[in-house]
Amino acid sequence: MLQATPTPDRLAKPTLPPVATQADIGAQVYWLDCLPCHGDRGQGLTAEFRETYPEGEQYCWESGCHGKRPYDNGFTIPEYIPPVIGAGALQKFADAAQLRSYIFAAMPFWKPGSLPEEKTWQLTAFLLRENGLWDAGGELNASNASLILVGPPQATPTPEPVSPADSPAAFSYAPILVGLAAFFFVIFLLQFLRRK
Ligand code: HEC
Repeated sequence: MLQATPTPDRLAKPTLPPVATQADIGAQVYWLDCLPCHGDRGQGLTAEFRETYPEGEQYCWESGCHGKRPYDNGFTIPEYIPPVIGAGALQKFADAAQLRSYIFAAMPFWKPGSLPEEKTWQLTAFLLRENGLWDAGGELNASNASLILVGPPQATPTPEPVSPADSPAAFSYAPILVGLAAFFFVIFLLQFLRRK
């Protein structure tokens, strides 16, 4: 655990005000689950942020850490981890609902889908507030999230499982099956006519 120090500690756990909002709790969830990759200010895994790491652990993607040969229970991480707070961040999400769905489905990067729904709402509320997109006054939930705009309108913002209709297999098999059916039908017809 981090020690309490008299100088402001960039990596210290955020404290909760007496009456904590969803976003306040989200700040703590962010600190625990997201900060190591997305930075203490949401700046992403920048060189400047990596300097807060102990010497020898600042090059996260090198072998032995999160590189090609990770530790036991380790995992590889990309060299670029995008910012989630600040100008230009989160632009691939049209609204808060899409942002929340992405976090729920894809984060944390090393264990996607492991966050309970409630935490993903808290995290989204926190990110909206930090980006000045929402005052975080009330509660963020499924009924109002799509009304809070984040980036420009998007066609395909969240990763979605490829549906069978989109998969190349569905396109290539259908004509072959139809062709085969027609072929056997003609054979059958010829046999039938010959017997007559
Ligand atoms: C192990 C590192 C890691 C952790 C921990 C992590 N992320 Fe990420 N995050 C990534 C990477 C890498 C990407 C880029 C993924 C991609 O583009 O496919 C990403 C992308 C994102 C994005 C999309 C940003 C954009 O504009 O493309 C959001 C939002 C996000 N993460 C939120 C979170 C939240 C919230 C948490 C905490 C629950 C979290 N992440 C934890 C590594 C991490």
